[in-house]
Amino acid sequence: MACILPTGAKQIHEAEMTMDKKTNENLYTAFVGEAKAHHRLLAFARKAEEEGYDQVAKLFRAVANAEGIHAERHLRLLGEAVVRSTERNLEYSFEQETTVNQVYYPEFIREAEAEGESAAVVTFKHARDVEERHAELYKRALGAMLREETHDYHVCQVCGYVAEREAPDECPICSAKREHFRPVC
Ligand code: FE2
Ligand code: FE2
Ligand code: FE2
Repeated sequence: MACILPTGAKQIHEAEMTMDKKTNENLYTAFVGEAKAHHRLLAFARKAEEEGYDQVAKLFRAVANAEGIHAERHLRLLGEAVVRSTERNLEYSFEQETTVNQVYYPEFIREAEAEGESAAVVTFKHARDVEERHAELYKRALGAMLREETHDYHVCQVCGYVAEREAPDECPICSAKREHFRPVC
């Protein structure tokens, strides 16, 4: 999915005209909280699995799914999850990825470098490069809408790089080994 960056209330479109400002802000705050919970709970589920608590892992994944639903509902009301035709959704996703990798992340990288936050520099750089790859994948998909293709994708669980068909021996962005890739069917 295209990255959702903390763009704040500035990028609220359709809903802005009809919704009170405070409610709009609260929806955005609620969205951020729910999205954070979704990701945190998925990490908790992975830990539970590692520790052999399979049922607890399922519980975390179930609640993570629910928080994801809350996040999406809030985002829809904010006018930032408008679903159109698949072709238009691909175009929109391409535009989002391009803006993120050409505008937002370069700025975040400069600011993190200026503050000497090297871990943030690394994660921002990985994300910037991976978003560029996501944009490429969308662009290619727009060509013939992938009508002639049936294959899986493999996602690097370290940086988010998406490989088509086979996982590479080493991630081209973060150098993670093949075992860090997860298939998405
Ligand atoms: Fe992305
Ligand atoms: Fe929730
Ligand atoms: Fe990677």
